[in-house]
Amino acid sequence: MTYAIIGAGPVGATLARCFAAKDIPVLIANSRGPESLGELTAELGASVRAVTVEEAVEADTILVTVGAVAFKDVGAMRPNWSGKIVVDVTNGFMLSPEVQQAEYQGRLTSEVNADRVPGAKLVKAFNQLPVKILASPLPDDVGRRVVFVSSDHEDASATVAALAESLGFAAIEVGKIADGGRLIQARAPLVFQNLIKYPM
Ligand SMILES: NC(=O)c1ccc[n+]([C@@H]2O[C@H](COP(=O)([O-])OP(=O)(O)OC[C@H]3O[C@@H](n4cnc5c(N)ncnc54)[C@H](OP(=O)(O)O)[C@@H]3O)[C@@H](O)[C@H]2O)c1
Repeated sequence: MTYAIIGAGPVGATLARCFAAKDIPVLIANSRGPESLGELTAELGASVRAVTVEEAVEADTILVTVGAVAFKDVGAMRPNWSGKIVVDVTNGFMLSPEVQQAEYQGRLTSEVNADRVPGAKLVKAFNQLPVKILASPLPDDVGRRVVFVSSDHEDASATVAALAESLGFAAIEVGKIADGGRLIQARAPLVFQNLIKYPM
């Protein structure tokens, strides 16, 4: 399984740090090209490699951590996303009501984003943790931060839940986008809660 992160702002860089901490190889791309990511990759070491977006979209599992509106630009990078798992980390709630209406027409952001990566198995995950919390792992004896995972594809949901566990989180699968996915859209009750699963 190969992994890529597209978007190297606070959220993408923090997820890259999580991969580096567990020595799990990951590619990372932004819109300005790999040379602009030299400082980040120098800090994170050999498991994180900066690439072009064209190379990043060749990975098996692609975490999209761009701004909400830019998701469709990432989607346009492939005519066909068959065989790919796309993890939608974006949140649309900061957009103005006008832009939200234009982008989503009242639908859930992940339903719309799934249409933007035709053929992919889209999974909503990691979006509900504020970046400061995402960036603060807990000692194992204290517990693990909860990451909710939602997808219309059970196998992809399980794969991303396993990835979240490998990265040191406690994954909770909440079902399909129309059900569990709705719960973890920003502004829903579960969003931005600092939930911790204690060791058994
Ligand atoms: N802030 C939070 O606590 C939080 C928590 C969870 C989820 N989120 C969501 O996570 C997403 C990222 O947040 P952020 O604060 O990290 O965003 P950000 O600071 O705006 O960074 C966005 C990143 O995406 C890259 N990018 C934009 N368009 C691209 C494209 N077409 N192809 C490749 N890369 C592109 C940018 O590259 P350049 O810099 O080269 O332009 C930048 O590295 C947002 O959708 C946000 O809603 C935020």
